[in-house]
Amino acid sequence: MKMVFSREGTGDQTMKVLVVGGGGREHALVWKLAQSKEVTRLYCAPGNAGMAEVAQCVPLKAEDIDGLLAFARQEEVTLTVVGPEAPLVAGLVDAFRAAGLLAFGPTQRGAMLEGSKVWAKELMARHGIPTAPFNVFDTLPAALDFVAGTTGPWVIKADGLAAGKGVTVATERQEAQATLRAMMAEKVFGPAGERVLIEEKLAGEEVSILALTDGRELLVLPAAQDHKRLGDGDTGPNTGGMGAYAPAPMLTPDLAVAVEEKILRPLLAALEAEGITYRGVIYAGLMLTDAGPMVLEFNCRFGDPEAQPLLLGLEGDLLPALYGAARGSLAGVKLSWLPGSAACVVLASAGYPGAYRTGYAITLPAALPPETVIFHAGTSLREGQLVTTGGRVLGVTARGANLAQALEKCYTVAQAVDFAGKFYRRDIGYRGLAWEAGRR
Ligand code: AMP
Ligand code: GLY
Repeated sequence: MKMVFSREGTGDQTMKVLVVGGGGREHALVWKLAQSKEVTRLYCAPGNAGMAEVAQCVPLKAEDIDGLLAFARQEEVTLTVVGPEAPLVAGLVDAFRAAGLLAFGPTQRGAMLEGSKVWAKELMARHGIPTAPFNVFDTLPAALDFVAGTTGPWVIKADGLAAGKGVTVATERQEAQATLRAMMAEKVFGPAGERVLIEEKLAGEEVSILALTDGRELLVLPAAQDHKRLGDGDTGPNTGGMGAYAPAPMLTPDLAVAVEEKILRPLLAALEAEGITYRGVIYAGLMLTDAGPMVLEFNCRFGDPEAQPLLLGLEGDLLPALYGAARGSLAGVKLSWLPGSAACVVLASAGYPGAYRTGYAITLPAALPPETVIFHAGTSLREGQLVTTGGRVLGVTARGANLAQALEKCYTVAQAVDFAGKFYRRDIGYRGLAWEAGRR
């Protein structure tokens, strides 16, 4: 007989799960949840062509909280797993809770960790969580004065959500001034840029630490490293992420302990002191500086593409961890990592992260190497033909005995996929490979 979760108190033996979102991260979540013995029904909204192979796609946008709530009620969804930040910041979890429905992710106040960089920095400053020194500006003249009176480089950040584009590292004073004008006067990010942070530039290796939490317990995943810049050698504009791998060897066991003790635990205590019981994923973007790990940013959800290699490398069932975190009880839940490494190479549309064209036919290889999955991000089916619909189109993700072997599989498959304008970085994982080589 199939083992099923029992919804506490209801005697209900079904576990219907809805994943909100339609990118590579959400495909990885759906792919992992589809393997769960506990899950009896899997929906995604809006999903994509890859997710449609393992879940029922519902034509609702991730930001359509009312529509999602009505759907979850009607289908008696047991657990809703929120992929992207926008619905969390807009209060999806609060609305579901008020209706007696369970959703994985922080409430609107918890999501301010990502929704307001100023709020997050001030929280860190009050609670001694290591982060770059910063100043906050509400008016353009004050920000310009500050830049005129200091020597750079200046890291300028829009306070609110800006789809990963709200940060500029300016070495020249003119560039800093132009960035401030664009954010605060021209309002290129709308209200998100009305308030800005100017912070000190930190140096070191960047890593992404993701941890699931119920507000008290932490399940920390292996460190991942993302490749945010468009071009090889970390050049060109920032993107949502062009590839990632895990574990990132630069986070040594000692540093991992420091991250938990100096950053993650103090953060949970700080949130609790604000009256926020945070349930969901804490994503800490860290710089490993000579003075120890320091926080660049917090996000309130899984990273994308980090989630793709992390979920591929995770052993066993993910559902108990998501369900437990959402209900506020992770006690007894464990997550373990399969041996070896996992990597993801993002195949993007030419022009991304600027303007790009869509609607190109995609041809996928007939067979894949073992332990390799192509996660879909910007794809859909048009009259039976798989076509591109986004900037990041596919995430070729593979596991191997080590990082080099995982990458080799990713690149074999990346080459074999075909669509007009296919673009990808050729050097994903290079820092990890160099770090490993230097240590030997
Ligand atoms: P964020 O969205 O805050 O993670 O910033 C985007 C990217 O800008 C980060 O991944 C870093 O590469 C860079 N960055 C942000 N803050 C700093 C900082 N204080 N020093 C150096 N680089 C930074
Ligand atoms: N890959 C970076 C992010 O998800 O924010």
